[in-house]
Amino acid sequence: MRDRFFAGAFIRPRTAAGWTLVAAVSAAAALAPVPVRAAGDAAAGRQVYVKRCLGCHGDLKTTSTFGPNLTGIIGRKAGTGESGVHSRALIESGITWDEASLRKFLATPTREVPGTNMPVDVADPQQIEDVVAYLRTLR
Ligand code: HEC
Repeated sequence: MRDRFFAGAFIRPRTAAGWTLVAAVSAAAALAPVPVRAAGDAAAGRQVYVKRCLGCHGDLKTTSTFGPNLTGIIGRKAGTGESGVHSRALIESGITWDEASLRKFLATPTREVPGTNMPVDVADPQQIEDVVAYLRTLR
């Protein structure tokens, strides 16, 4: 928005075509800043995990009671983790977890694996990166 304001405030084209150009450039500026995804930060991911995942999944020290333990999740076949009750949907999904499949799953689990009991969507792409970086350390 600030870009558009500056364009309007300081650039004063003399022709209609000029204004169209300004509008196009400022619209592009408004659309362009797709945030560059920073690499995952495992420490930040740990915070997300403690808040949003630990209760169901446990971690290296805590046994999970509801969701499957995620220690060693990367490289493991979906639905084969210790403890926790797996849905048939997840077992039969054919997924072997890698970072790409985890990212997709964590964004919208029920869309990636219809019928899964995993209820948590992580909406923020940076939080996904961070939590995946943290999961990588659970081995
Ligand atoms: C309310 C409890 C709950 C919370 C909170 C939760 N999960 Fe889950 N999660 C589950 C359950 C239950 C399953 C098993 C789903 C199934 O079998 O369909 C699961 C499955 C998973 C799987 C697949 C495990 C496997 O063995 O294939 C991953 C990965 C996962 N969750 C990650 C996360 C992450 C990361 C978070 C935090 C952002 C999180 N979950 C939060 C309950 C939860």
